[in-house]
Amino acid sequence: MDNLNNHIANLREDFTKGTLNESDLNKLPDLQFKTWMQQAVDGKIMEPQAFNLATVNKDNKPAGRIVYLRDFSNNQFYFYTNFNSRKGSEIGQNNYVSACFFYPELERQIRIEGTVQKANDDSSDDYFNNRPRQSQIGAWSSPQSKIITNRDELDNYILQNEKKFENKPVTRPEFWGGYIITATYYEFWQGRKNRLHDRICYELKNNNWNIFRLAP
Ligand SMILES: Cc1cc2nc3c(=O)[nH]c(=O)nc-3n(C[C@H](O)[C@H](O)[C@H](O)COP(=O)(O)O)c2cc1C
Repeated sequence: MDNLNNHIANLREDFTKGTLNESDLNKLPDLQFKTWMQQAVDGKIMEPQAFNLATVNKDNKPAGRIVYLRDFSNNQFYFYTNFNSRKGSEIGQNNYVSACFFYPELERQIRIEGTVQKANDDSSDDYFNNRPRQSQIGAWSSPQSKIITNRDELDNYILQNEKKFENKPVTRPEFWGGYIITATYYEFWQGRKNRLHDRICYELKNNNWNIFRLAP
């Protein structure tokens, strides 16, 4: 084993910051999510809104990438992206996804599973119109997930779009907007000593959230 592999093989963190008891949890998982998100925000942890989004393509091959959560309520989680991206095309083939948030400073993980649909045009417009102008130009200019020759190609698209929208508001491209994950499964994970972590899950069955504990 080389030094780096030896180093990572021996990295060990014992989790001791909290516990998760059934009696402390909200009966509704979206309210429990809100509590943990609020605690992540209050704790000033970096990028609490970032999560791993996993999609699966038509050949059952999974892919993951980080995206930003931009809104949530009533078990619905919004993120924004290019509809023609790899994730967009995979969602078009299979709308089951998972989302995973990791808050190392709180020794917490939140796993969410559900299905995705596109947000309506009004919500996508509202979000797009509030983005900084350079990000709006960027959305027009990046053929996200497509092969490009070099950085110059991207810079040229940006220049072209800056010209196109000179002295004009940048409207939302129809290939860019929001997706909404509707959650049917959650897991709240709190790290504990000696890898004996707490894991509490919520599963939607017949309109009721069943709550159960999993072994770590
Ligand atoms: C912290 C962070 C936040 C990101 N947020 C977004 C996002 O909200 N939307 C997005 O399309 N890409 C976001 N990205 C870029 C994606 O990880 C990814 O590179 C891109 O969406 C293309 O993924 P795809 O080819 O699988 O579709 C983010 C990356 C990082 C590291």
